[in-house]
Amino acid sequence: MQTKTPRNFFKALAVGAPKPYQELPTRLERMIHFFPPQIEKMRNKVPEMAKNVDVILGNLEDAIPADSKEAARAGLIEVAQSTDFGSTGLWVRINCLNSPWGLEDITELMNAIGDKLDVIMLPKVDGAWDVHYLDQLLAQLEARNNIKKPVLIHAILETAEGVKNVEDIAAASPRMHGMSLGPADLAASRGMKTTRVGGGHPFYGMLADPTADGADRAFFQQDPWHYTIAKMVDACMANGIKPFYGPFGDFSDNDACRAQFRNAFLLGCMGAWSLHPKQIEIAKEVFSPDPEEVVFAKRILEAMPDGTGAVMIDGKMQDDATWKQAKVIVDLAKLVDE
Ligand code: GLV
Ligand code: MG
Repeated sequence: MQTKTPRNFFKALAVGAPKPYQELPTRLERMIHFFPPQIEKMRNKVPEMAKNVDVILGNLEDAIPADSKEAARAGLIEVAQSTDFGSTGLWVRINCLNSPWGLEDITELMNAIGDKLDVIMLPKVDGAWDVHYLDQLLAQLEARNNIKKPVLIHAILETAEGVKNVEDIAAASPRMHGMSLGPADLAASRGMKTTRVGGGHPFYGMLADPTADGADRAFFQQDPWHYTIAKMVDACMANGIKPFYGPFGDFSDNDACRAQFRNAFLLGCMGAWSLHPKQIEIAKEVFSPDPEEVVFAKRILEAMPDGTGAVMIDGKMQDDATWKQAKVIVDLAKLVDE
């Protein structure tokens, strides 16, 4: 009898001291939609936008000019206090811990809207120590403000040192919600030679071998993010937290955005960031399971009701392992249909 869920990101968060941690929310988070809270026009769109996305995030960090940081923080507090987000997640990306704004981002937001915030996204995480610092600060601010539901932490994996320490970061706290790959900062930190935000590069790939007839040799572009996404997915899933792809910066190329999101989805990611309204629909489509695959996955589950043994379906061998694969897809389809 199959008793274990194939993915354990729902496992209890209670580890060590008896803090009131709950289980990670079993909610869909296919897109984390960013908005700049210092702009009134964008704030006014939030209540409608929140109905159409899984997560809405007030961005306080990069892309917010230095002289608008305080206005962005105040704008996020204003919109959070006046909006009912229903089942949509409310997240914030704070400024990094060694910036002039990080500490006030945390304290002011927790004092004003700590009971409404679901997740704090922490940029430029280099190691577990960054998560420990935020964890303790949140515990103090939750206690001071009598906040019962713990605010979770989502790390951005965007420094070479962070990638080196990714397993420690994933395991750093029971408050860890998940992690997103940040390809722009990571490229800079690694000294990669690109000005793009995610996606491929026309020169990154392999040239096919020469042929005897001297025909043109095919060039196959490759995914420069494959290694890091796979490493991040393993670190997250081994620790019961959720992996995400981050931003895709070329708003003029929806096909390339879809391809990057799809690679991340197939490798295990739960969602991606949307920085433009058109990326919301792309993420919704890509991070929901393919209906044909759901039909096939259901046939596997039905053919092996107790999850053991081996059967043939349409000429393809199925066994305990493919039953678990099928369950991942069917469980996700159920969440989408709810
Ligand atoms: C996101 O923050 C990135 O740097 O790509
Ligand atoms: Mg970044």
